[in-house]
Amino acid sequence: MNLKTFIRDIHDFPTTGVVFRDITPLLKDPKAIKYTEEALLDLVGNQKVDKVVGMESRGFFFAPMLAARLNAGFVPVRKPGKLPFATMRQDYDLEYGSDALEMHSDAIIAGDKVLVHDDVLATGGTAQATCRLIEKMGGEIVQCNFLLELDFLKGKDKLGDFEVKSLLHY
Ligand code: PRP
Ligand code: MG
Repeated sequence: MNLKTFIRDIHDFPTTGVVFRDITPLLKDPKAIKYTEEALLDLVGNQKVDKVVGMESRGFFFAPMLAARLNAGFVPVRKPGKLPFATMRQDYDLEYGSDALEMHSDAIIAGDKVLVHDDVLATGGTAQATCRLIEKMGGEIVQCNFLLELDFLKGKDKLGDFEVKSLLHY
């Protein structure tokens, strides 16, 4: 199946000059969902995974499905102020200004083997902040995987020595 045929290009969204890769056509097709789930699992192979960490909000589409299939737990990373229990916070730089992500402080147990999943790897800021949170909590990142990667933004460079795999490249 050619998954790119299920990804819609939206020009000048959210701002002029940006091409937004819209995955909602993929999400509304049951065969494409199933194919994507299997293909993301193939990227992981038979590595042991204790927790799948997904980033708000588009990382939530596939991360819980992957967790269930890997017999692992799912952990949400959220934008500030959304999680009700004690949290760990990681600030990160944007092109203009900064942002932050939070995770519950009991979400990862030291030694947990962690798969990080998000829909898109762009500049890598979101994934890098997530990896920092996981490592602060003693988790061991086995792979960062993405549905699609915008190669020209070189987000992979921010993820250093981690294994980074993406199903589709643009
Ligand atoms: C998008 C995308 C990734 C992130 C990638 O999320 O879903 O999470 O940007 O960008 P980066 O590699 O430059 O950090 P967005 O912040 O738009 O929020 P959403 O998932 O809630 O739509
Ligand atoms: Mg996102």
